[in-house]
Amino acid sequence: MLVRRARIHDELLPDGPPEDWPWPLNVPCVAQLATEDMTFERPVTMLVGENGSGKSTLVEAFAEAWGLDARGGRAGRKYGNDRPKTPLGEVLRLESTSAGAWQRGGSRQRRKGYFLRAETAFGFMEAVNGKAGYWDEDISEMSHGEGFLTVFAAMFREPGFYVMDEPEAALSFQSCLQLVDLMYRLGKSGAQVVCATHSPILAATPDADIIEVGDHGFRRTTWDDLALVDHWRRYMNNPAAYLRYIVQG
Ligand SMILES: Nc1ncnc2c1ncn2[C@@H]1O[C@H](COP(=O)(O)OP(=O)(O)OP(=O)(O)O)[C@@H](O)[C@H]1O
Ligand SMILES: [Mg+2]
Repeated sequence: MLVRRARIHDELLPDGPPEDWPWPLNVPCVAQLATEDMTFERPVTMLVGENGSGKSTLVEAFAEAWGLDARGGRAGRKYGNDRPKTPLGEVLRLESTSAGAWQRGGSRQRRKGYFLRAETAFGFMEAVNGKAGYWDEDISEMSHGEGFLTVFAAMFREPGFYVMDEPEAALSFQSCLQLVDLMYRLGKSGAQVVCATHSPILAATPDADIIEVGDHGFRRTTWDDLALVDHWRRYMNNPAAYLRYIVQG
């Protein structure tokens, strides 16, 4: 593992009462980071929560705090400037383990990791396709999901800090299982994964820690207790019964 906890230092918070703080400090899970550290207790952490609960806001800031570009891409690359570009990235601080401190303490090349944002990943992948330090295959001749799997295979290999935002977006059931296997193996190899997801498949990664974000803020939970899993179970069991309350004839 590389990162032990994330927090916002008191001195970086704005003046005035919390109810007057601007976005993103007014998103409940971010507001909680102002008073409570988010600890990373296992090599793989899944962030789960409804649309708009703050998952992307968190993972972008984690990526930036590790030195990854909030727009996605690999570690060790030189960006225009290294200043965080998101408001939370500017105030969030990561506390490293000794292995993490070693990677962060040396030259830029020592730092390993990748930020995969599903929303922008394909455009980004096309932009760096064929460039040194990425992958050998030509992803412009691949489907969306095949491109993702190529990136995983080429970029997710070292004991780095891997941040993902809804990687399931392009993946079939079988490909999600491949990603579960990859995340599990990365976790065992000294790497660390933080993944925002709506997928009950990814959330079930063995030995993963699950943090649910929502109106309550953030809290550690189990796969069985996730609202997401309950919804999928009931839906898969009997879609018609579930949809009766949603689709009015
Ligand atoms: N640039 C911005 N300025 C102001 N508010 C924003 C901005 N970006 C996002 N928000 C708001 O912050 C909240 C959290 O957004 P975020 O994108 O982190 O949610 P999310 O959990 O990733 O959702 P989804 O599952 O839809 O990806 C939302 O209420 C959103 O409307
Ligand atoms: Mg999001």
